[in-house]
Amino acid sequence: MSKSQLKPQIESIIAKPLLEPKQKMQAICDLLQEQIDTYDWVGFYMANHDERVLNLWCQAGEQTDHVQIPFGKGICGQVAVSNENFVVEDVKAQDNYIACSIHVKSEVVIPLFKDGKNIGQIDIDSNTIDAFDKSDEEFLEWVNAQVAAIL
Ligand code: SME
Repeated sequence: MSKSQLKPQIESIIAKPLLEPKQKMQAICDLLQEQIDTYDWVGFYMANHDERVLNLWCQAGEQTDHVQIPFGKGICGQVAVSNENFVVEDVKAQDNYIACSIHVKSEVVIPLFKDGKNIGQIDIDSNTIDAFDKSDEEFLEWVNAQVAAIL
């Protein structure tokens, strides 16, 4: 399914009155992982600024051991401190990278801002090399803005 077709479905998840924010985030992970062929693992890591760690709140795809990531470590940890999108065409070319699965070939991490503060991120892994482009960045920035509105 195309990303523009998914937007109304995400809006309807966000609007569901009976779900808690974390349940909505889980539903978004499930939707993206099921509907976009190259999104093999989708998760939200949220920041604990006092402890300088990211905690995995929800995920769709293979289970990961990396449920907590220190700021600065891996692609996710780097985004926690850079506040910038990080698109990895080929994970093998990255020194500061935490492997979650041997199948993963590319990754994108987009920070999630609430009132201008970087409070977490959406992380997508793909088993396809160079799977993410500008349209993914724009789409995932939009997803994060929807999520920020309910946090
Ligand atoms: N690859 C990430 C770790 C999280 S897993 O992809 C689920 C990183 O380098 O930060």
